[in-house]
Amino acid sequence: MNILILGDIYGRPGRNILKEKLPQLITQYEIDFTIVNGENASGGNGLTTKNAKQLLSLPIDVITMGNHVWQQKELLETIADFPQIIRPLNYPDPCPGKGYDIFEYQLKTEETKKIAVVNLSGQIFMPALDNPFNAMLPLMEQLKNSADLIIIDFHAEATSEKIAFGYYMDGFATAVYGTHTHVQTADERILAKGTAYITDIGMTGPLDGVIGVDKEIILETMLTKRPKRFETATGSVQINGIILAIDDIENKVTKITRLYETFEETK
Ligand SMILES: [Fe+2]
Ligand SMILES: [Fe+2]
Repeated sequence: MNILILGDIYGRPGRNILKEKLPQLITQYEIDFTIVNGENASGGNGLTTKNAKQLLSLPIDVITMGNHVWQQKELLETIADFPQIIRPLNYPDPCPGKGYDIFEYQLKTEETKKIAVVNLSGQIFMPALDNPFNAMLPLMEQLKNSADLIIIDFHAEATSEKIAFGYYMDGFATAVYGTHTHVQTADERILAKGTAYITDIGMTGPLDGVIGVDKEIILETMLTKRPKRFETATGSVQINGIILAIDDIENKVTKITRLYETFEETK
């Protein structure tokens, strides 16, 4: 099977380009299962209930989140209504939502694959959450016996923390990919014990901004050191992510391919 994973959907431009292009990408790359990061889908900050419903009306199976998960406060109340939404596992208790789940996908052979999707937040230059390496430990034994594929969105700033976590999961996870920086890295590979890895899969949203935000606003804040309300950039857009080709017998990734597509401004 083929799994498509897309980086942080940013604001209306990100949502619109997905609505327009996702069905086509799924046909073109023969995608069976789609995971997106939705932490910036609503104006760059969090995910509203309305936008969650819109995204899930597209061929999207799972939405992972990140440090912006609670910026649209309504999601605190409504996250339980969306079994497809996964927020970082290492938020302290009590915290609504869930840090992982197992999703079922039926292959053409009628065999059912159990796909575990885990979301974790890093600690370096990130909110002070529980240690993600330790948070993963109790889950490992459980997932080893209950999932065919284990896919981990490691939402973190520091490349070092992401790479270390990739090695930590090598041979256990099917794939570990980074999100949060909104800039795709070119280090995709399959690690020695078989785990597919990439430091960051990038962002789906405005191309011509500063990680999603209007570049003039960011330049002004950097020049004046005064805060200014962020607005989503306009203009050209990008779709960033990865495609995992899976050997359905071994349950291992045979190929990890980066997806980096840009499009002219759409209205
Ligand atoms: Fe993000
Ligand atoms: Fe983030």
